[in-house]
Amino acid sequence: MSHLQFTNVGKLFSGDNWAVKNFNLTVNNAEFVSFLGPSGCGKTTTLRMIAGLEENTHGVIKFDNDIVSDPENKKYLPPEKRHVGMMFQSYAVWPHMNVFDNVAYPLKFQKLDKATIKKEVSQVLKIVELDGLEERKPNELSGGQQQRVALARGLVMKPRILLLDEPLSNLDAKLREKMRRDIREIQLRLKLTLVYVTHDQKEAFQMSDKVVVMNKGQIEQIGTPAEIQNSPSTQFVREFVEIGSH
Ligand SMILES: Nc1ncnc2c1ncn2[C@@H]1O[C@H](COP(=O)(O)OP(=O)(O)O)[C@@H](O)[C@H]1O
Ligand SMILES: [Mg+2]
Repeated sequence: MSHLQFTNVGKLFSGDNWAVKNFNLTVNNAEFVSFLGPSGCGKTTTLRMIAGLEENTHGVIKFDNDIVSDPENKKYLPPEKRHVGMMFQSYAVWPHMNVFDNVAYPLKFQKLDKATIKKEVSQVLKIVELDGLEERKPNELSGGQQQRVALARGLVMKPRILLLDEPLSNLDAKLREKMRRDIREIQLRLKLTLVYVTHDQKEAFQMSDKVVVMNKGQIEQIGTPAEIQNSPSTQFVREFVEIGSH
């Protein structure tokens, strides 16, 4: 069964400023899908529409059999009811909270009891290898560890879908490489449905089951990393992949 489905989804900001247009995509359960394309091609807007932070102006978005957004029929499920986990590059951890409180934050809205929160946070901190650092403040952590706190916060409420928007761009090359492998390993182990945004071809090809190449708000090609690399279907994809390999 498809887990996330876009049917003719569009986002028209104003006039003829289409950030995303005619977007059709199916993401399967436990699949790692990357949105790949240059800056301004509509990756973040599409991710925000999945989360419900941005309303699509056209088309239908479904999670399993549930319509989460369908403007034509005035259907719109707010973000807090979508049960989606997020980690954004600019969406850093809260400096005044320690690691435990940062990660526990999404659970506090669910009115869980303290013991359950403690258990869930401990589990997820083990997954991202931050156990033992519960009391640390973000300024006592490395850049990579701070990204892991943000990742743990996205994972802690066992999201239906995890969304990552260029989460590694602030890290140095060596750490980025390790985090790519770790994120992929966690995604496989937890069988997460994950949508990953990047402008980095290498990153998309290394991590994903499926890559969606985007250009000017539209999909150029959908395929496995091998399909995209070996048989680019448009001039744009060919050039984009080519540039990335240098
Ligand atoms: N709030 C907004 N109002 C108007 N235009 C926007 C808004 N957000 C994004 N856009 C436009 O939509 C397009 C896609 O942006 P974005 O989704 O951020 O691209 P990407 O993440 O691929 O860099 C860009 O042309 C951008 O200027
Ligand atoms: Mg973006």
